[in-house]
Amino acid sequence: MKSEEIVRLLKDRDDFISGAEMANILKITRAAIWKRITLLRKKGYTIQASPARGYRLIKSPELSMEEIKISLPASLRKIGSQLRIFDSVVSTNKVAAEFAAKDYPDGTVIISDTQTGGKGRLGRLWLSPPEKNVYMSIIMRPDILPKDATILTIMSSVACASAIRNLTSIPVTIKWPNDMLVSNKKLGGILTEIKSDMDRIHYAVVGIGININMDISDMPDELKTISTSIKNETGEAWARSQVAVSIIKELDKWYDILSKMGKKPIIDEWLQLSATIGQKVKITIGDTILTGIAEGIDEEGMLILKLPDNSFKKISAGDLTHVRAAEQ
Ligand code: BTN
Repeated sequence: MKSEEIVRLLKDRDDFISGAEMANILKITRAAIWKRITLLRKKGYTIQASPARGYRLIKSPELSMEEIKISLPASLRKIGSQLRIFDSVVSTNKVAAEFAAKDYPDGTVIISDTQTGGKGRLGRLWLSPPEKNVYMSIIMRPDILPKDATILTIMSSVACASAIRNLTSIPVTIKWPNDMLVSNKKLGGILTEIKSDMDRIHYAVVGIGININMDISDMPDELKTISTSIKNETGEAWARSQVAVSIIKELDKWYDILSKMGKKPIIDEWLQLSATIGQKVKITIGDTILTGIAEGIDEEGMLILKLPDNSFKKISAGDLTHVRAAEQ
C-alpha cells in the first residue's frame, strides 16, 4: 500500500473523507490509514482530522514523492519508472551511480532537497541549498555506443528547456553544450557521467540542477550577475514537484524519440533552442583559449567552430562564453 494512494484519495475529495471509506477503498485497516496519515504529516502534509468526519487535505509540501507520483501520467515509458526522494545527499549523481550499480532500472529518478557536495561541470561545485531548487539525476541504460553518449546531454538539455518553457513561458535557450539560459543568465545545468567500456554503455547518470525559488540575494557574489532562477524570471515561487514532473515527462518523450528515431530529431530541436549557434564565442579548454563563430554541432554533439583563419575545429568539451553578450 503506497502513501501516494492516500494522497490521491484526499485530493480527489475537496471535503473530508472518512477513515472507514479510505480503508474500504484501499483494502487496509483504519489503523493502517492512521499510520500513513501520520507519516504524510511528517513529510510536510497538513491534514486535518475530525473524529466525526475523517480526514481533509489542507496543504501539500511543494516537493514530495507523492505529489510527483500522482502527477505523472501512466503512459510514461521509461523515465520515472522508479523514483526516490531524499532530504540530503552528497550528490544525486553519486546516489544514482550507486543505484545503477545495484541494477536499478533504466529511467530511475533520484531527487534531493539539498546536496552537500553538488557537482558541476569541469570539476566545479554546484550550489545546492535546501528548499529552493531541483537537484535530480536519472539513470539511463540507452542502446547507443559510448562515442554517442553526448547525445544524452544534448537530449536532456532539450527536454529541460522545453519543459520549463511549457510550464512557465520563460524563453529558455541552451548554451552549448548544456546550460539553460535566460537573457544570457544561467538557470540550470546538466552533468552527465557514464560508466562504459570500449563498445558498451553500462549506464549513464544524467544530473540536472535547475534554480527554481532561489533569490538572487541568496547567491554568492560571483554568481549574482550571471545566474537566475524561475522565481527571479516570473516573480513567483513554483512548486518544485511541478517542475520535476514537467521535466520527467519531457525527458521520457525525448528518450523515446532517441530510441525510435535516433539522434537527428534531437539535434534539430537543440539547434532551434540554441543560443550559441551563429554567435561569436570564446572557448577555454584548459590553458588554451579559442575564439571563433559557432557554426553548428555535429552528430556526436561536438561544437563546430569556425576559426578566424576560416578553418573549422570540432570541440568536445570546454568553457564557452558568448563574446558579444559578454562584452556588453
Ligand atoms: C553544470 O555545471 O552546469 C552542471 C550542473 C549539474 C548539477 C546537477 S544537480 C543534480 C546533479 N547532482 C550533482 O551533483 N550535479 C548534478
